[in-house]
Amino acid sequence: MKMKMILLRLLFLTSLLCSSTNQVRLVLDSSRSQFFEGTSVTLSCEEHDDSEGWTVRRNTTKRLSKCGEGWGKWSDSSCAIEFIFVQDTGVYWCESREGAASSSIQLTVSGKIRLWS
Ligand SMILES: *[C@@H]1O[C@H](CO)[C@@H](O)[C@H](O)[C@H]1NC(C)=O
Repeated sequence: MKMKMILLRLLFLTSLLCSSTNQVRLVLDSSRSQFFEGTSVTLSCEEHDDSEGWTVRRNTTKRLSKCGEGWGKWSDSSCAIEFIFVQDTGVYWCESREGAASSSIQLTVSGKIRLWS
């Protein structure tokens, strides 16, 4: 019984240490700075260990939401947006279940170039 408590405490301390040293990063699948409507983008939460418990969140002019809530598809620590709209413009970051957050990225989506003839 006592041994179990010690082990639990060790586990807790280790997880504290890990969360402060293993900063998660939000990484885009390209180094593009400009995004056009209709293209795709993948946002990944990169961590040294597995990225379990993390998700991509965003703040657009409309609302705060997370990947899968009407936009994006979450799988394998990444959020894939197949078709981005101007309305997807906003600030994106990774956030853990416990509320730890990565630094954020501003993603700006421009409309399609329209050719008038
Ligand atoms: C979301 O964006 C709005 C408008 O820019 C801002 O006022 C608000 O503080 C942001 N919320 C968070 C959690 O970043």
